[in-house]
Amino acid sequence: MATIRLRNTDAWITEEEEVRAFLSSQGVYYEHWDLSSLTPEQSNSFLLSDSDKEKILSALTPQIEKLAKERGYVKWDVIALSSQTPSLDELLKKFEQVHTHTEDEVRAIVAGSGIFIIKGSADVGYFDVNLRAGDVISVPEYNPHFFTLTDERAVVAVRLFIDPAGWVAHPFEDASFTKA
Ligand SMILES: [Fe+2]
Repeated sequence: MATIRLRNTDAWITEEEEVRAFLSSQGVYYEHWDLSSLTPEQSNSFLLSDSDKEKILSALTPQIEKLAKERGYVKWDVIALSSQTPSLDELLKKFEQVHTHTEDEVRAIVAGSGIFIIKGSADVGYFDVNLRAGDVISVPEYNPHFFTLTDERAVVAVRLFIDPAGWVAHPFEDASFTKA
């Protein structure tokens, strides 16, 4: 289950219904998938071959196809990041810059954990969404955000696209960004 931290006040939202209500108020799509179709190994592996990734997609086909049908996604893949990923720190540095896309950014966390830092409404400011296995989020198109790892430094996620070309990152300079 996702939890939220508001950067301006360091307040946390941890109750499921409050998390859902807050994300909905910010226009952020959220749902939680049942991952019981994955094997224990699939839930704990972060170095994946193409075949491992295909097997994960296959195990999650019902959830993926339902979401794709509801929200118009036509392509999907699996990404894995961990301390075994070459140049992980450099990659994270590149990730950790506020940016936008012309389509929404969808991630379904399959294993490990991650954080989306998202620009909220004017009264809210930037907030962190801490995501664990089963959490599915969509950051709306044109909404400033970035993604990073937790201290666990490992994540496997399904990405879904309407058009992969829409996922190009456009840097978003923002003096109001709250760093910590
Ligand atoms: Fe992004």
